[in-house]
Amino acid sequence: MAASSSSPVLSLRGISKHFGAVAALTEVDLDVSAGEVLALVGDNGAGKSTLVKVLAGVHRPDAGTVTFDDRPVTIASPADAHALGIATVFQDLALCENLNIVENLFLGRELRRARLDEVAMEIRSWELLRQLSAKIPSVRVPVAALSGGQRQTVAIARSLLGDPRVIILDEPTAALGVAQTAEVLHLIERLRDRGLGVIMISHNMEDVRAVADRVAVLRLGRNNGVFATADVSSEDIVAAIVGATGTALPRRPNRREEPADD
Ligand SMILES: Nc1ncnc2c1ncn2[C@@H]1O[C@H](COP(=O)(O)OP(=O)(O)OP(=O)(O)O)[C@@H](O)[C@H]1O
Ligand SMILES: [Mg+2]
Repeated sequence: MAASSSSPVLSLRGISKHFGAVAALTEVDLDVSAGEVLALVGDNGAGKSTLVKVLAGVHRPDAGTVTFDDRPVTIASPADAHALGIATVFQDLALCENLNIVENLFLGRELRRARLDEVAMEIRSWELLRQLSAKIPSVRVPVAALSGGQRQTVAIARSLLGDPRVIILDEPTAALGVAQTAEVLHLIERLRDRGLGVIMISHNMEDVRAVADRVAVLRLGRNNGVFATADVSSEDIVAAIVGATGTALPRRPNRREEPADD
């Protein structure tokens, strides 16, 4: 693992977001550094997707600050997130089944020289997939013919077109079998090796342990601990997720001593 000690590329402080009476996020802090995989975990409804959508420019937070490269920034739209260099791969991937890989990668941002530059797009597609060491036989096959792992790879490749600094993956292995999961986890390691800050949402402790340098736990919309993966057991992470603090579980020195407020 290549944990980075540099200052965070992306920092959230005190982020809150309400939906009517529902407090989806309350004063959440989060940091991710370049060359780091941060797992974001929490039970259903803990606020993970809401936090992702704040970073993707889908939701405006009610309070709190976001800094990127130590500069305060406002992410008011997906275009703002893109311009900053924050890419998000949502869980549903948003690929078009009937289009081939090149068409999916460049959908809405086709390269043109008077007319569509098919050759340039195909070359760029191969470059991207090669960087990710993707095992894909042809860039002209429709996405419908690809496996789940290959689709995830195409969605990630698509998000890399804007040369992001931070990439957020919402449950990248949720629908995948063993071999495909391993493929996607390797791909995440390659993103880290390229110096990206990676935020990976996951419910799977094995995946978290396999690739994450640190784990941030959300519970009921609040921070409930940040752990170095090497120093923490899966049981401790699960305890923080479900709120079973103060039980007989060993306390770790790097756990944030924040009481759950329920
Ligand atoms: N657009 C919305 N309108 C109203 N309430 C919402 C909206 N989006 C999320 N919420 C609520 O905010 C809370 C956090 O939801 P969120 O989807 O962020 O959780 P999550 O951690 O992603 O859960 P899961 O693991 O089930 O995906 C939940 O109580 C949810 O019902
Ligand atoms: Mg969610």
